[in-house]
Amino acid sequence: MTGRLRLGVNIDHVATVRNARGGDHPDPVRAAAIAAGAGADGITMHLREDRRHIVDHDLERIRSASDLPINLEMAATEEMLGIALKFRPETAMFVPEKREERTTEGGLNAAREHNKLAPMIRALRENGSRVSLFIEPDPVQLAAAKSLGADICEFHTGRYVELWLAGDHELADVERERIAQAARRAVAMDIEPQAGHGLTYDTVGDIASIPQLTELNIGHFLMGEAIFIGLDAAVRKMREIMDEARA
Ligand code: PXP
Repeated sequence: MTGRLRLGVNIDHVATVRNARGGDHPDPVRAAAIAAGAGADGITMHLREDRRHIVDHDLERIRSASDLPINLEMAATEEMLGIALKFRPETAMFVPEKREERTTEGGLNAAREHNKLAPMIRALRENGSRVSLFIEPDPVQLAAAKSLGADICEFHTGRYVELWLAGDHELADVERERIAQAARRAVAMDIEPQAGHGLTYDTVGDIASIPQLTELNIGHFLMGEAIFIGLDAAVRKMREIMDEARA
């Protein structure tokens, strides 16, 4: 599996900036359109329980403005399940969510949350969404994802990125190999392997070169770069690095 690696652009932090002042600017809808024009293959949004960035009315607005598939990140709550069943995203991705965290810390404990997740995953799949679980690259979590019937697993790249950025390239390589192994194992289990979290221009290449991965989801770094070079250029550059790593 060495096809084109898809890029899902997470537009949450356009909404973070918008919400800092209230009002409509900057509009995540405009960001989704620019990302699409620059080579994104999907739009990712995380509707958090506290609505700190994306809010409910963004979902339909973004859907009607863009043809790209939508990956809706959500906590495993009855409220989010109801919203996802109504909205019917192409992919519904379960992520762990804590109110006090700044961003998603660590992967989902799919093994421990089996009984809560199982009926939710069934309902979403029967409703026409594919279901993804955001997990650590860990065989126990993968086995749990398989028994839950997940279509996709997104492996958390946060630890790899932190190690790499701290200059600990040896340990970063070990973590990259853990992600590569999990991706191979996922394919053998008929689960689509994806990855994301914290990726930057410097760290994306080594992850993009894992041939089994089908998609990377990237947000915060792209939005930060967009301040300096514009969103179109930031997404294009990320795409280029990903394509080079795959070539
Ligand atoms: N994947 C998941 C499951 C996430 O929660 C996030 C952050 O919302 C990302 C990918 C993207 O991470 P980042 O914004 O650090 O690129």
